Amino acid sequence: MARGAYIESGGRQYEGNVTAFVLITCFVAAMGGLLFGYDLGITGGVTSMEPFLVKFFPVVYQQMLDDSSTNQYCKFDNQLLTLFTSSLYLAALIASFFAATTSRLFGRKPSMFLGGLFFLVGALLNGFAVNVEMLIIGRIFLGFGVGYCNQSVPIYLSEMAPAKIRGALNIGFQMMITIGILGANLINYATSKYKNGWRVSLGVGAVPAVLLCVGSLFLEETPNSLIERGQHVKAKTMLQKIRGTNNVDEEYQDLVDASEAASKVENPWKNITRRRYRPQLTFCSFIPFFQQLTGINVIMFYAPVLFTILGFGNDASLMSAVITGGVNVIATLVSVFCVDKFGRRLLFLEGGAQMLVSQIKNENSSDDSFAWSWGPLGWLVPSEICSLEVRPAGQAINVAINMFFTFGIAQVFLSLLCHFKFGLFFFFAAWVLVMTIFIAFLLPETKNVPVEEMHYVWKSHWFWNKYMPECEDLVAGAYNNSEAAPSN
Ligand code: BGC
Repeated sequence: MARGAYIESGGRQYEGNVTAFVLITCFVAAMGGLLFGYDLGITGGVTSMEPFLVKFFPVVYQQMLDDSSTNQYCKFDNQLLTLFTSSLYLAALIASFFAATTSRLFGRKPSMFLGGLFFLVGALLNGFAVNVEMLIIGRIFLGFGVGYCNQSVPIYLSEMAPAKIRGALNIGFQMMITIGILGANLINYATSKYKNGWRVSLGVGAVPAVLLCVGSLFLEETPNSLIERGQHVKAKTMLQKIRGTNNVDEEYQDLVDASEAASKVENPWKNITRRRYRPQLTFCSFIPFFQQLTGINVIMFYAPVLFTILGFGNDASLMSAVITGGVNVIATLVSVFCVDKFGRRLLFLEGGAQMLVSQIKNENSSDDSFAWSWGPLGWLVPSEICSLEVRPAGQAINVAINMFFTFGIAQVFLSLLCHFKFGLFFFFAAWVLVMTIFIAFLLPETKNVPVEEMHYVWKSHWFWNKYMPECEDLVAGAYNNSEAAPSN
């Protein structure tokens, strides 16, 4: 088969079914997404609750009461209050690098377990907080949880999934993020009526954290990671179990080949900077950067605050966050059903165009187009384009950059809003235009291509092929054991 046709047909197809075992496993793993979503969604509502502000941020509360002293867009402009939201993302950034080493040396499972444990400690510290220090330290623990889970869960899902439904399964992660955000919005809506309701809001995160810790003890390790750590027999049995067939020789052999190529690498961090991995480095860096520059987290973190600024009552503001959260969940379903059928590019381009229009018109609806484009694809694409030898490093870069810009937006947005008011949305619109052009020219389609076969995708791309001179060795090696080697 000609290489172009090989890519178009979605690459090599292995035998195997979508087993219940793999679906349940992925559901448990995606719990990490739920926790991330919960933490994303909870602060916006909590920081608009009066008893919370009175206890921890009396200056902001005073500012709020004293309407005449300040421009209404500046009511919430307080660095300590923003640090409460944003400290989590700095901690996640740092933790993602440690997580990369944990998941490479010990497997994806321990990373997920540790992630759950950090979430648990963070939720308890926050729920029982008696001062600002306890609040911020709790957020830092939650951040470690996010760093560990966001590094390991998307990789875990991509490695467990059969290629033909990898997109949909991986988007389970984003689906859980949006369910977590919605759950947080609903809980805030309910607890805001009680004096110490914020404690419940912050503490309830402990429940899914326990589920993730316990669940991850029962999860199975991915075949890729088992092979990487020399457990070949176990890896083959696992592959048979997750694919529901004994005939996994071809896929197993490709995983072994990929692992052998990976084991020649001495320094995975240096490796990803090599010319041959330029596309992976580029996408693992730019996709998270662009994802945050869509401005999504302005809505996620500050929707209740924005609605308060616009003059809505506290109840209505929290309700608006619930509606935004609900739309977010439903819109994510669109991508679950479309991503493996129509591909990643179409969703990116359609979502980008729609976000551009709604941001220029200053409408809240950029939220739903994000939920089927940059939201899920921001986690899917980086996790599926990296071959084994650069996967933990690539994913850590993705998480770290994502967290850095999430932190940046959380930290400066209220201050920028104070100065630029709603004109700020034109700034995000300009970035959406840039990222849509970036995808149109540089991102090849990756739907249905097995993770360890991605090199063909770069090889046949007009721009990236010039970075792949040495790739022929890899290709020849990868096909030593197969008759199905594609030819030019
Ligand atoms: C992003 C988050 C965002 C969430 C919204 C995720 O993919 O990484 O920053 O808050 O989507 O659903």
